[in-house]
Amino acid sequence: MRDFVFSCPTVTYFGADAAVRALGSELPKYGRTVMLAYGGGSVKKNGVYDAVMKLLRAAGKDVTEFGGITPNPTYAKVQEGARLAREKRVDLILAVGGGSVSDCCKVVAAQAMTGEDLWEMKFRFHAEPARFIPLGVVVTVAGTGSEQNNIAVITNEEKKIKAGMTGASPSFAALDPAYTLFAPLPQVVSGAFDTLSHCMESYFGKPLDDNLTDEIAEAVMRHVIRTARALVKEPGDLRVRGELMWAAAIGENGLLKAGKVTDFQAHQIEHQVGAYTNCNHGMGLAVIQPILYRHLYKAAPQRFARWAKNVWGAADRGDDRETALAGIAALEQFVIDVGLPNSFRKMGIADRSFYNAVARSTNIKEGCCRQLTVGEIFDILTECY
Ligand code: NZQ
Ligand code: ZN
Repeated sequence: MRDFVFSCPTVTYFGADAAVRALGSELPKYGRTVMLAYGGGSVKKNGVYDAVMKLLRAAGKDVTEFGGITPNPTYAKVQEGARLAREKRVDLILAVGGGSVSDCCKVVAAQAMTGEDLWEMKFRFHAEPARFIPLGVVVTVAGTGSEQNNIAVITNEEKKIKAGMTGASPSFAALDPAYTLFAPLPQVVSGAFDTLSHCMESYFGKPLDDNLTDEIAEAVMRHVIRTARALVKEPGDLRVRGELMWAAAIGENGLLKAGKVTDFQAHQIEHQVGAYTNCNHGMGLAVIQPILYRHLYKAAPQRFARWAKNVWGAADRGDDRETALAGIAALEQFVIDVGLPNSFRKMGIADRSFYNAVARSTNIKEGCCRQLTVGEIFDILTECY
């Protein structure tokens, strides 16, 4: 494995009453003014808003609300949040929601501390923000792992780019599986696929030597596959939801990237599809990733065969390419079994006019096995239809 730096500074409270325990312990550490951030309103319907507000009031906080953060959060919304945070002199941002709320707040936490245009800073000058308003996260739907990393995926609507930015690492996070109970099942399953996708993107990264990171990734993948199937059968099972929630955090907190060069090429394509269609992240990956792997497996047949055997339980066919194909077929079947879409059409994306623009604007990385071309991304998108 390669040299690495691993840092996951988030204090994580997991399980029943996680928010009560987290806010009870953490709120006294911060100043009086808290910005309570949330999405389109699900928290107001499912009681999470009331529960969190009660805890904030009990802790004597002045609360500034920042609501209306959409899925695939925009850079414009980041600016709105940063203006508000500056104006109210916010001491702590509390993001209550899924990856979108958390991601938006991570960059709000940075943008509120600087007059620089963070997008320009990152993509033109390759510089990262260094100062942040402290951030806490109460997770209401799992999958992205945003609660334990400093990545924020933001859509710049003007530039038609959805890309990862560096934001604040959450200082603390509350993971109560019961808070996910009211999230629509397709969203929860989409989150589970996102977790599986993070594991796969890391696992296929170089180097492919014998290393602990890959062994852990195999265990997490097997677990997510098993628990996602169990979730579909028994959506109310809190144990299963909890397992998926914890897997989501582990899947994207850096542990599975330790010592690996990861390109996240499926994510790069999906993010640009998201920039053009505003589609659901996990569902987009469920469509793209199996097709991408059909394009790539011949470049790393041994690794794909190992994945097929160790993760999907495929039999060794005596030929790595054949075994690899059995693994990809199992991934495709999994997508169907858990009720995820396996084509853009099934996601409601009938328009095909954006394929060329997406292919041209996708960030093409070194490649887990080999580098894609623009033309090949166009072909993959066409096959996704
Ligand atoms: O907005 P509200 O009304 O809250 O509804 C949300 C939203 O419509 C709903 N929801 C969440 N919790 C709920 C609930 N509905 C009922 N009850 C609850 N308890 O679910 C919908 C989707 O929420 P969202 O936050 O968008 O989902 P997710 O967690 O999948 O986040 C997706 C975003 O995260 C980015 C994605 O690209 C996408 O923009 N990612 C972030 C990553 C990171 N920071 O590390 C990595 C990922 O690969 C990913 O790119
Ligand atoms: Zn993802």
